Amino acid sequence: STHNPVFPGNFLWGAAIAANQAEGAWNVDGKGPSVADAVQAKPKLSVKDYAGHMAISDQNVADALNGLKDIDYPKRRGIDFYHRYKGDLALFAEMGIKALRVSIAWTRIFPTGEDASPNEAGLKFYADLFTEMRKYNIEPLVTLSHYEMPLVLSEKYNGWVHRNVVDAFVRFSNVCFDRYKDLVRYWLTFNEIDSIIRHPFTTAGIREEKSAEDIYQALHHQFVASAMVTRDCHQKIPGSQVGCMLTKLTTYPRTCHPGDVEATLKKNLENYFYADVQVKGYYPPLIKRDLELRGINIEMQPNDLAIMRQHTVDFVSFSYYMSMTESVQPDAERTPGNTVLGVKNPYLPASEWGWQVDPVGLKISLLELYDRYQKPLFIVENGMGAKDVVVDGKIHDEYRIDYFRSHFEQMLAAVHEGVDLLGYTSWGTIDIISAGTSQMSKRYGFIYVDQDDEGNGTLERLRKDSFYWYKKVIATNGADL
Ligand code: BG6
Repeated sequence: STHNPVFPGNFLWGAAIAANQAEGAWNVDGKGPSVADAVQAKPKLSVKDYAGHMAISDQNVADALNGLKDIDYPKRRGIDFYHRYKGDLALFAEMGIKALRVSIAWTRIFPTGEDASPNEAGLKFYADLFTEMRKYNIEPLVTLSHYEMPLVLSEKYNGWVHRNVVDAFVRFSNVCFDRYKDLVRYWLTFNEIDSIIRHPFTTAGIREEKSAEDIYQALHHQFVASAMVTRDCHQKIPGSQVGCMLTKLTTYPRTCHPGDVEATLKKNLENYFYADVQVKGYYPPLIKRDLELRGINIEMQPNDLAIMRQHTVDFVSFSYYMSMTESVQPDAERTPGNTVLGVKNPYLPASEWGWQVDPVGLKISLLELYDRYQKPLFIVENGMGAKDVVVDGKIHDEYRIDYFRSHFEQMLAAVHEGVDLLGYTSWGTIDIISAGTSQMSKRYGFIYVDQDDEGNGTLERLRKDSFYWYKKVIATNGADL
């Protein structure tokens, strides 16, 4: 109706996970090691030190390549979704979700990235998974690259810095399109493509010489690869929809001091750049000039810019967890966010990890993104990491319900004000291993998993209070929050 805010009738309420944080079974049925399998848990480090948690040593890489030391590497065990997905999907279906965002572990299909032929056991796993989703009318939303590229490609080529990785990724993606063309309609190319700047190893396998030039070269390769596979997907799967995926790091000026406002503008322009390229099909002039001023030269092949220009995305997806503040005052108090460090906002509460909870920031992000791109939007990650306590088999996670409710209210307001929003997949349906800190105790799910940070536990699944609440939200299409 014109006056009462309502979600569209076909709104895709859903949830999201990533292969490397959920599946486990890291060396089963022919899977090769991925970059995620080399990420070691560091329980002694502050949970606010994301760079420390994501740092990789030669020993970590050697351990993963040799299959040694299982215990310290939580992403290798995940929550055993690989063996338990049928039971988990039944729970998701009970909640009523209409879409599930998952990723395909490249290393299940091509264990080293350049194998002569794909691994049939890996291909079959995802065929079975998508078929099972379809059984429940759950629409798969599939990310091709979510922090899990083959570790061998990282070692051999310094990851995406080398052009050969483009070919390997395009080949992998085409194998997926051919095999899953009747099962999957919605695709995302690179999860949080901007994150290459903040954690180049987990995003792009870059280990050596992390010069800015290497990173932008690798990013360019991802832009080109993304456009190539968007082209191939459209060609192979008629009616398919391909999206880009941005970490939406909305930043406010700390004060109205023009210096703060300018610094904030620069932050936000930098954040938009990645989606600009994938939506508009070219490098924005201010970014080009900035790279030039910094002496960064990107090597391009003759057709790159034409391919990028021609094969832009159909929709814009993004993650949103928190907002940031910026200031030119050197002594401004700082706080961490999603793999970033920003200035503290005195008006906002923060989670135990320092992430500032800001539902209005989600509305602002939706309005800005829609105004800028005028393409359908899809929120593909949003949620709150928290420690949950089990009391008599129950988890009273009122704080999580409050977080979601306040964000849904702002989503609804944005839709009412004209934003075209396709759907919403919360992070992460069920508790999984944290990307940033490798903790199990940083929980995001509606479903609790009995496992601690060291991997002890029965892996039993328990419905939290938020499970019943989200079920009601979906059943009423957001009318009853
Ligand atoms: C996003 C990632 O940046 O944030 C997810 O795409 C990740 O993989 C999520 O899990 C939450 O971050 P974290 O570090 O709390 O797991």
